[in-house]
Amino acid sequence: MKHVGQQAGLYCLNQGWKFTEQDYSVRPKTKTHQDVYGFSKGGAAKGPAEAGFDDSHWEKVELPHDWVTKKDFTAQGSPNQGYKERGIGWYRIKFPLLEEDRDKQILLEFEGMSEEAQIYVNGMLLKRSYSGYNSFCVDMTDVANFGMLPNTLAIRIDASAWEGWWYEGAGIYRNVWLCKKSKVHLAYQGIWLKPEYETKDWWKLKIESTIENSFEYEENFEVEHVLMDEKKQIVGSCTACGKIQGFGKTVLKSEIQVKQPQLWDVDAPNLYQVRSAVKIHGTETDFQIHSTGFRTIRLDGETGFWLNERPLKIKGFCNHQDHAGVGVAVPYRVKEYRIQQLKKLGANGYRCAHNPDPEILEICDRLGMVVMEENRTFSSEASNLEEVKGIVRNARNHPSVVFYSVFNEEPLQGTGKGRRIAGTLQAAVKEMDDTRPVLGAFNGGYLEEQGAATILDAVGINYNPARYDEFHEKFPHIPLMGSETASAFMVRGEYETDYEKHMIDDYDSECALWGNTVKEGWKYVNDRNFVAGAFVWTGFDYRGEPTPFTWPSVGTYFGTYDSCGFEKNACYLYQAFWKKEPMVHIAAPWTKKVPDGEMIKVQVYSNCQEVEVFVNGVSVGRKQVDAYAQAVYQIPYQRGILEAVAYQNGQKAAWDRQKTAEKASELLIQAVSDKVWNDGHDVGIFNISMVDSYGTVLPDAEDLLYFSVINGKIIGVGNGNPISHEPDVADFRRLFHGNAQVIVKPEGEGDLELHVKTAEGMKAVCVLPVKETEKVPMIKPVNEIPVEGWGLYRKITDTMPDVRMKTDSNDMNSFEPVAFTGQPQPELSGKLDRYAMYRTHVELGSACRGRRIYFHRILGLVYIYLDGKEVIRREDSWDGSILLPIPDDFHGNHELTVVVKNESREYPEAGICYPVCIIKK
Ligand code: GAL
Repeated sequence: MKHVGQQAGLYCLNQGWKFTEQDYSVRPKTKTHQDVYGFSKGGAAKGPAEAGFDDSHWEKVELPHDWVTKKDFTAQGSPNQGYKERGIGWYRIKFPLLEEDRDKQILLEFEGMSEEAQIYVNGMLLKRSYSGYNSFCVDMTDVANFGMLPNTLAIRIDASAWEGWWYEGAGIYRNVWLCKKSKVHLAYQGIWLKPEYETKDWWKLKIESTIENSFEYEENFEVEHVLMDEKKQIVGSCTACGKIQGFGKTVLKSEIQVKQPQLWDVDAPNLYQVRSAVKIHGTETDFQIHSTGFRTIRLDGETGFWLNERPLKIKGFCNHQDHAGVGVAVPYRVKEYRIQQLKKLGANGYRCAHNPDPEILEICDRLGMVVMEENRTFSSEASNLEEVKGIVRNARNHPSVVFYSVFNEEPLQGTGKGRRIAGTLQAAVKEMDDTRPVLGAFNGGYLEEQGAATILDAVGINYNPARYDEFHEKFPHIPLMGSETASAFMVRGEYETDYEKHMIDDYDSECALWGNTVKEGWKYVNDRNFVAGAFVWTGFDYRGEPTPFTWPSVGTYFGTYDSCGFEKNACYLYQAFWKKEPMVHIAAPWTKKVPDGEMIKVQVYSNCQEVEVFVNGVSVGRKQVDAYAQAVYQIPYQRGILEAVAYQNGQKAAWDRQKTAEKASELLIQAVSDKVWNDGHDVGIFNISMVDSYGTVLPDAEDLLYFSVINGKIIGVGNGNPISHEPDVADFRRLFHGNAQVIVKPEGEGDLELHVKTAEGMKAVCVLPVKETEKVPMIKPVNEIPVEGWGLYRKITDTMPDVRMKTDSNDMNSFEPVAFTGQPQPELSGKLDRYAMYRTHVELGSACRGRRIYFHRILGLVYIYLDGKEVIRREDSWDGSILLPIPDDFHGNHELTVVVKNESREYPEAGICYPVCIIKK
């Protein structure tokens, strides 16, 4: 996420949007000559793209926004998209730009919209974006309004098809930023920081800066880069000078020598910052700040992945981007929480499957995770190649990014065509960044010499670990990794598999036909030095792909955590595999009430040599722990305490226990963070559990919880149940195996308070302090509706013109187009007792009380007519504003005619001077 002070002239454009899930045409309603002619001109898109369009009945929304979250589940929906229908929607926002912005370049930065988007600014189509995972920037400078006339940004989003086979949500689901740039400035994605190892003591930070001049004249400029460490101490700097043509673009290369920097590593993610500033005649006009990290990476066919010349087995997870309740509109805090959860397991890798995700990269930089950043579409079509380059430009400054994946499981992967396309995509990546290996995630065809495997830097194999050896034998020099492993099924808190109920036990006993259990999957990877590592499918349950089921299951079973980030037992298996600190965990339903004597499967996961299990203090056996199979017991159930002790070199090293739950005693609410920032982006994540008086979570609690919030609003709720059809956005949710989650956005003043209660009267409150912080300023939207499309009657007359005069549909010239820019009408200047007539059509939408047409300033005597009927006459003064009340029952389209007469001998000027708009009381 962008931060305060990270970039000059940065504003957040997340608030004040209107939305409707309905489609409109941007074409005129009729095919008259007037409409056809008018629509053929620049900036003439109609419907929601038009400034005067009435969106008063649309929903008010804030970004990030995934409109699918509020939809119902339907059996008619696609299992891939989680049985919720998508569709077509429109967003609109109106916002002002200051008079003093007139000299600036105005950029809109979109981090992601699902899916195909058409972006209109002030009636002009400025961009078509085809991928829901594409981050890009739109330059609106040419069509921007400054001063009194607001800007209308309208976006049509078509999410009726799909790009992937998982839940993709719909809408503007990532942030939107507005950036006001000086004439000569650093381009969007225009800084490339490229640290290079030189000797033991010295590194070189190569910097490529792209400078743009968005105005007509040539300029001399200077760029200064200052490198700072984490304490903001200056470590080095450099400057470069250049000259840039009007509307030109230039790339400057500079470098800073850095002595013994603190290296970036997964355990010590040391970051530096580079402040890059543009100066014109010594005055700073623009700056951007980017993080960087010093580290080396290497992939080797025999020895796998090396970070800072140390072999590092990648212990990674694949993840889609959605989270319980919020769909794909995942706030930064939730993304951070998810990656923290993965780090807790000893993970060091993240695969953005199967699409890029820019905020994830920043979080992985900070928390220390290596990332496989992935391209979505396997195609060498020109705009796709541009998108791929954009993905790389977004990613290349992040030390966390260590691989680019150009595809996932493409049927052409083993063919000559696949080889060509992969080669073209790889070349597009390398054009932007030649420092990271490029690979594809194959599910076949990797043994074909003529396929894509032999053209890429490395190969990822999805599943099929039994073929790792075959591949390595055939291509020993090609680095290999398990780009997807496992695909094991489990449901948090379930201990009995019941296909009728769509429930699968949490013992790691089942997996997809093509997959492996967690235990098998890791063994294949860990036993082979030449396998660089594994990206487990998946870290978190996600919406859609409810394999091995269909309706009524709506979410997947593959996650190591459930969709809320609550632990399944597999979390502890990975800890046993990956963590060094001694640990032990019991996977068994001992907290449940089970008839005494019933045989219970107890799995004990530990990274120690031996474990011993006790039932109510009595040992039921000490066992050697197999590194993969772990320790398994069958124990007759006895109400009470089940304990596991782990021993390392004969010494007690770790301990875990479960106690049969008593009756419910309280609701516990745990906030994931100790505070929330009131920066307009942050949220509170509250994890709720029902516990007995000893703090044991009630394993079967399914009580309905009711929520209310003070100083905030609920943006999503969840409980990790893959078959739950409860709404995502609601003030209630059932517990699932004792747990539920609520995500709340602060609003207004004061601390965030979440109140939870059950129908039986159990209650709990959690107060989360809301702290002030510096914010990226928000652009304040406006409500006024500009009245545009004015024509000036071509004759300046000396008698009152015929205000009821009609023009033919093919008459495009009797009224000439005019815009009001602060000046009186030049045609009337110095001409006394002359009349000018203006006309437009105004869209009054549906009936609405208290609307008025506001003329900011009209000079001269004024006569105003609505549909040919005089509604205002001003003959007693010759300067000032006019407010024209609109009758409440007036709706639809109306003809507005204004006549001005130049009568002042002192100042012989007249005309509509400033833009006209409709305002509400
Ligand atoms: C893979 C695919 C993933 C997911 C997974 C489920 O084939 O790449 O996106 O569908 O299977 O096992």
